[in-house]
Amino acid sequence: MFNERIYNFSAGPSMLPLPVLEKAASEITNYNGSGMSVMEMSHRSRAYQEVFDGTKALFREVLSVPDTHEILFMQGGATGQFAAVAMNLIGSTGKADYAVTGNFSGLAAREARKYGQVHLAADTSERKHTAIPRQDELELSPDAAYLHYCANNTIYGTEWDYTPKAGCPVVADMSSNILSKPVDIAGHGLIYAGVQKNMAPAGMAAVIIDKSLAGHELPCTPTILSYKTMIDKDSMYNTPPTFNIYLLGLTLQWVKERGGVRGMEELRELRSSILYDFLDNSKLFSGCADRSARSKMNVTFRTADPDLDASFVKEAAARGLVSLGGHRIVGGMRASIYNAMPVEGVRRLVEFMAKFESEHKI
Ligand SMILES: Cc1ncc(COP(=O)(O)O)c(C=O)c1O
Repeated sequence: MFNERIYNFSAGPSMLPLPVLEKAASEITNYNGSGMSVMEMSHRSRAYQEVFDGTKALFREVLSVPDTHEILFMQGGATGQFAAVAMNLIGSTGKADYAVTGNFSGLAAREARKYGQVHLAADTSERKHTAIPRQDELELSPDAAYLHYCANNTIYGTEWDYTPKAGCPVVADMSSNILSKPVDIAGHGLIYAGVQKNMAPAGMAAVIIDKSLAGHELPCTPTILSYKTMIDKDSMYNTPPTFNIYLLGLTLQWVKERGGVRGMEELRELRSSILYDFLDNSKLFSGCADRSARSKMNVTFRTADPDLDASFVKEAAARGLVSLGGHRIVGGMRASIYNAMPVEGVRRLVEFMAKFESEHKI
């Protein structure tokens, strides 16, 4: 039992900024003098429309989204977008390129195969997804409707440090690194992100779409997944996830007050360098990803002994450093250090790693 907040290294849902949670708590029964919670408000009410418009405007401002692109809030998480992207975009040529660099890009490719022909522009599975392909390693098709990649591989702890270029629109899954650094929006036809890591409670995806790409969906596309419908109805074709959108607004305000995405980028450099510097000097722990592909959001590492890994995760949890176990596919450890993780949390983790290492000399 903990009586205070602990350092939660979960990959998602993950920590939200404390001031965001406190603000939401203070308004939970009476939002802005309305006499009701945001959760209880009609999504068609003026009060809620203000919440919605405010979140959207902040999103545009914080990520510098140009007018060519629309911002959508959709249900079904990032997985819903695996289907939506294919159903809406593959129709123009019937083919799409997918760079598979981890679990979620593999799932996205598998989903797209239901709706058209998928060509793997890259597949790092033979290297156990420890690497990210360079631009000149991508095998791009001349007739792909789009190129899909996953900007940060949450499970394997790798991250693209560039926006891939292709002769077609580029689509990115940014679920686990959105809002952590400036994004080249114009270089993308579409960006989507499940919100439960860096933005808000689970259950929603934020989508940034070049408006010119909408309106060509396959006839079988459910209305709720049609980008054209969602653009025309301003994400309110049906009842939107009202509370998520409100909370996202609070998180965006928090990001803005801390220097925006540039401020977040400085912090992610600091947090990740503390951890990687330790790993690079450790005799017990080693990082899992290739150095050139290391993620600054999900740091994966292990010892040489799975039993020792399990003891580490258990002992860390007893000290209030929780959810450090690696994903069940890969084992080992993973520290997810999104925007809301205080630098102090990473320092405490490294202190504990040093102590653990001194007690388990090899
Ligand atoms: C990069 C990435 N894409 C997609 C997903 C799936 O997200 P959701 O559970 O919102 O469908 C995840 C979930 O962890 C993820 O990390």
